[in-house]
Amino acid sequence: MRRKLVAGNWKMHGSLSRNGELLGQLAAHAGEMACEMLVCPPFPYLAQAQLLLAGSGIGLGAQNLSEHPVGAFTGEVSADMLADFGCRHVLVGHSERRSLFAESDVLVAAKFEAARRAGLVPVLCVGETLAEREAGLTGEVVSRQLLAVLQRTGVAAMRDALVAYEPVWAIGTGRTATPAQAQEVHAAIRSLVAGYDADVAGGLRILYGGSVKPQNALELFGQPDIDGGLIGGAALVAEDFLAICRAAN
Ligand code: G3P
Repeated sequence: MRRKLVAGNWKMHGSLSRNGELLGQLAAHAGEMACEMLVCPPFPYLAQAQLLLAGSGIGLGAQNLSEHPVGAFTGEVSADMLADFGCRHVLVGHSERRSLFAESDVLVAAKFEAARRAGLVPVLCVGETLAEREAGLTGEVVSRQLLAVLQRTGVAAMRDALVAYEPVWAIGTGRTATPAQAQEVHAAIRSLVAGYDADVAGGLRILYGGSVKPQNALELFGQPDIDGGLIGGAALVAEDFLAICRAAN
């Protein structure tokens, strides 16, 4: 039985005062949730979030990391630094990193490995663009993104890791994949991993991301291979994020 996980990816949003309010509201209700909760604020707010989430049961994650462990890499943040601030999770390969910052499959796999080396749980984001979906390439694109990691790290590194399927055309657009569309890709991801190790695949939590809202969360989370969500916009509004977490109970 895979416990559901709902993660908030705050992207480049927030301020000390707004975060204080949001985190306080989330922490106040975390005890009611059966699902695991995770928030991923921007780097400068990790210390604030670490402090305000202490003892709440809500996990802390980051949105990105360097593939390097240490050194002259101006502007970069290492996995060990994230761990120092209480992060247990880190997103890798979010579609905005892939498309806006030119992160290749190879780089994403290196980041996945760097997270693992530091004991962090990587949340590997995969997903196709609209053009790729319309060209019938969804399966091929998602497999390529997954295989880049599997071939570099081996399937054992996927144990306890997370995958987030985020169709690019559904991110921030208000256009959600239907539960059936999402389920189909989630099942394909699990079966690809099962080809390497059925046990790892059976325990792998696969999150769905892309315009998840309180109104559609229940049906999405009711699909057999959808183990929770990676939430963008709705994670910035406490009552929406909490409602989505309740839908995962
Ligand atoms: O990582 C979360 C994400 O990209 C989805 O964003 O705003 O469509 O929920 P949103």
